[in-house]
Amino acid sequence: MAAGTEKLSEKMVHPAVKPLSDLIGTWKGEGEGFFPTISSFNYSEELQFTHSPNKPVIAYSQKTWNLKSGQPMHSESGYWRPKPDGTIEVVIAQSTGLVEVQKGTYDMKEGVVKLKSELVGNASKVKEITRVFKVENCELSYAVEMATSLTDLQPHLTASLKKQALGCHLITGDITTYTTSQAHFLTNVCVCLHFTRSMILNVNCKIKLYFCNNTRFRFPIFHLL
Ligand code: HEM
Repeated sequence: MAAGTEKLSEKMVHPAVKPLSDLIGTWKGEGEGFFPTISSFNYSEELQFTHSPNKPVIAYSQKTWNLKSGQPMHSESGYWRPKPDGTIEVVIAQSTGLVEVQKGTYDMKEGVVKLKSELVGNASKVKEITRVFKVENCELSYAVEMATSLTDLQPHLTASLKKQALGCHLITGDITTYTTSQAHFLTNVCVCLHFTRSMILNVNCKIKLYFCNNTRFRFPIFHLL
């Protein structure tokens, strides 16, 4: 099997976590923040879901940086506890000191997890937080809304992240060594990175190929080197 195509085997995932196993891994991307009372801002983010097979829980952590300056911004970590009935409980501790207990549902056929705060603690003004995560086409996107003592539930964050290959690589070569039909195949499957045919067919263009470790979209991903 080509490196990076491995799926987490049955033994590597607790049964309770199996429906959400597409999430496990490292995701990187960018987001935008806004709220009626603040200036909007852009950030980069690294988010990780990790799992020990003997525990019915996924550990979650994320860090963000100011997109322009690279300065660290918000970070948070916690635990996701999916139940067999499609409900899920999430606890999160934020770098600001705020803590959340979130409850909600997951539907991995739709690739969606919806959360609403049952408890927000140690917060000066936040009253409620909702989070919606969506996994589609090798992409994890989320939207966070919050209500404060002055403002009703309004969007605060949206972000979109790509999964980082577990173990990558494979072909590092000259694209011109592919036959036309192979190149056509490449064009067809490069949905994850939105490559165009002209980019793929660039003469002497080197590529690196790896696979998105996602059960529903097991497309190869190509990186120009
Ligand atoms: C659920 C997670 C989060 C909560 C509950 C939260 C909460 C808040 C609150 C209550 C405010 C003040 C709003 C106001 O003054 O009316 C705020 C502002 C802000 N938040 Fe968040 N935040 C969260 C996540 C993030 C993240 C991930 C980032 C950065 C990537 C971020 C960056 C900011 C910035 C830059 C401001 C404006 C600060 C200022 O202008 O003083 N927040 N947030």
